[in-house]
Amino acid sequence: MGKKVLVTGGAGFIGSTTSGLLIEKGLDVCIVDNLFMGKKENVPKKASFYNADIRNKKGLEKVFAREKPDFAMHFAAHMNLRQSIEDPFFNADVNVIGSLNLLECCRKFSVEKILFASSGGACYGEPLHIPVPETHPLQPLSPYGASKIALEEYAYSYWKNFGLDFVGMRYANVFGPRQNPESEAGVISIFAKAFLEKKRPVIFGSGEQTRDFIFSGDVAEANLLALSKKTGSKIFNIGTGTEHSVNEIFSYLKNFFAFNEEAVRKPGIAGEVRRISLDISLAEKELGWKPKTGFEEGMETTAKWFAEKSGKR
Ligand SMILES: NC(=O)c1ccc[n+]([C@@H]2O[C@H](COP(=O)([O-])OP(=O)(O)OC[C@H]3O[C@@H](n4cnc5c(N)ncnc54)[C@H](O)[C@@H]3O)[C@@H](O)[C@H]2O)c1
Repeated sequence: MGKKVLVTGGAGFIGSTTSGLLIEKGLDVCIVDNLFMGKKENVPKKASFYNADIRNKKGLEKVFAREKPDFAMHFAAHMNLRQSIEDPFFNADVNVIGSLNLLECCRKFSVEKILFASSGGACYGEPLHIPVPETHPLQPLSPYGASKIALEEYAYSYWKNFGLDFVGMRYANVFGPRQNPESEAGVISIFAKAFLEKKRPVIFGSGEQTRDFIFSGDVAEANLLALSKKTGSKIFNIGTGTEHSVNEIFSYLKNFFAFNEEAVRKPGIAGEVRRISLDISLAEKELGWKPKTGFEEGMETTAKWFAEKSGKR
């Protein structure tokens, strides 16, 4: 029997993509997700599933006692940046208290290592230089970003005090099949859904803001490598080191879906950075990882997936 990984947020986008790869590689997977944003249909058939909330410490302990996982991967989070500014308490309840519950369970049930999702887009703030290395100052523009930094710091203290190895993954903007267009983070899935519904997508600000877009399959591979290598306590940027603008994505998908109208333009959003891309040389060197999927190839795969799902292609 393979080692067992407990995956929080495994009914969501990155968690389910990663769980699928873990299972393919012969690991056992059990998933904890309260289906706040995730969907039961995303849970791989071979994974066991608990509809549970990471804020419920007792409930989480029961899952750990029953499953006795060797590793934990933590993707469950409240990730709506705008809502986190309006209601930082709810965000902290899930992202800080929920994460602390998980760290406690890892300690109590002697988990070997925890990998968790941090954020390259939200932790650094407006970059002083591009591409941004892990050593860049942490200046979050939103409570969401602050909650991810708090998780990194708590993980460090658990490593120091209890020897719980950890790896924090500061993802760039992840995109790919299964990304929930109802979440505010996935501009590619949001645009694809709008085009399929023959609606004009909304572009906030000039549209010239750039992001570092990384395909979900590449992220899952980085996660697997980071879990399997002996890393002690480590933080990695996971992205591509390149920038693409929102206007560029709009044009590509507009063309792909043969849409004739222009976008609806609205003012920019507080808490969002203007430009970013991540320096990934540390992950390349220490994990032997490199993204394999080109930007247009990834967008085409994603657009086709949404089109097939909606039955329009
Ligand atoms: N998608 C990105 O571009 C991106 C970028 C940087 C960081 N991240 C981080 O990666 C992780 C996964 O993101 P995603 O894009 O897959 O989002 P997602 O919303 O698809 O997945 C998050 C999952 O967590 C679950 N969840 C939320 N609150 C929960 C709770 N209280 N208890 C149990 N489960 C709960 C949701 O139901 C969902 O299935 C998050 O931690 C996010 O902050 C994502």
